[in-house]
Amino acid sequence: MRFDPVPDGVYPRLIYPPYKSTQARGPSQAPLRLQAPVAAQPGPGFARALLRPFDADLTRQGSAEPLGEKIVVTGRVLDEDGRPVRDSLIEVWQCNAAGRYWHKKDQHAAPLDPNFFGLGKLLTDAAGRYRFITIKPGPYPWGNHDKAWRPAHIHFSLFGNVHAQRLVTQMYFPADPLFDFDPIFQGIPDAAARQRLVARFSMDETVGGEMLGYVFDIVLRGRAATPFGL
Ligand SMILES: [Fe+2]
Repeated sequence: MRFDPVPDGVYPRLIYPPYKSTQARGPSQAPLRLQAPVAAQPGPGFARALLRPFDADLTRQGSAEPLGEKIVVTGRVLDEDGRPVRDSLIEVWQCNAAGRYWHKKDQHAAPLDPNFFGLGKLLTDAAGRYRFITIKPGPYPWGNHDKAWRPAHIHFSLFGNVHAQRLVTQMYFPADPLFDFDPIFQGIPDAAARQRLVARFSMDETVGGEMLGYVFDIVLRGRAATPFGL
């Protein structure tokens, strides 16, 4: 397998002062080039037996239905040549409808939902397709600067089929008014690449009177690569 370089500006700046924590964690030295042949580094394989019954339906992991707007998110994971990335693990995590994560570090003034934990696990199928049901996450404050609120987003971790396809990113929702003010979103220099992180609303994927549908396609590496979103 060959890898075309990802164009400059697609991946976020490693040090971007408006996003304060990048200043402490960004690398202070030039990167080293690894010469190991990529083809000799197959990624981990994943068995469907790893999945629990409601890993792909985050609205059914509690004892009752969670509060908020139920949505379905689907899409395809493709490699740089447009081929499906098959049988590959995707992990998703997010806050609840009120903008609160089920995590002890999130103590901001919004309620937890006892029926929503915000963690999902999926495998792509033979066409590289995935699908999960969840609650639309709310925006939340994060203390980076005055009035720092994150646009609503779902975190994605993708393992691909080889190690070089690893991607951790965030999916956003169309027309979010917070995009212009978010240094994580704006930390991706290429404006067109930024838009690849925004899901599109889909009436085709909308399920009757139950939930609206969103499509988020992901490209691992290459000229049309989906940006990292950290
Ligand atoms: Fe987040």
